[in-house]
Amino acid sequence: MTTYLFPGSFDPFTRGHRDIARRASKVCDKLYVSVMHNDAKSHVFTSEERVYMARESLKDYPNIEVLCSDGLLVDVFREKQCDAVVRGIRSETDFRYEAEMALANRLLYSDYEVVLLPCRDDLSLISSSIVKEVGYYGGDISKMVPSQIVDFVAEKLKKGRN
Ligand code: PNS
Repeated sequence: MTTYLFPGSFDPFTRGHRDIARRASKVCDKLYVSVMHNDAKSHVFTSEERVYMARESLKDYPNIEVLCSDGLLVDVFREKQCDAVVRGIRSETDFRYEAEMALANRLLYSDYEVVLLPCRDDLSLISSSIVKEVGYYGGDISKMVPSQIVDFVAEKLKKGRN
């Protein structure tokens, strides 16, 4: 049984995130999606909201389970007995960041492993930051976030602006 872990801050969850989760879920038996804290970012959505968005967006995939942790990634990895972490990469910049993160995590836990999935061409320009910027100004985010959460994300971002 192969178990993968897809961690992220998912602030908010995007179509790019869903595509990585969907594809990862096809090459493992069980996929945990873990909503986590990224100290380098200040999150607009609460942990509960980020879990809600991930669960709503992934409810059609029976082998995906959404978790939440405010601790270290390696602790979730170890506790859930994962074989590898999955991360999506859009660019060379993403690759460098992932390589650094993998190195740091491997220093914390020697059995740590990462699988990098290149993202789909048509989703490569979508990021949580772009969704936030467009949403703050009331722009159309329906092509950027999964259909299940479009209204939720749009409402929250519009409120943040007022
Ligand atoms: O979606 P993001 O913001 O790129 O995800 C980054 C995330 C949340 C996976 C990373 O910041 C993380 O692993 N946070 C948990 C705390 C931790 O383990 N930090 C050490 C990373 S080397």
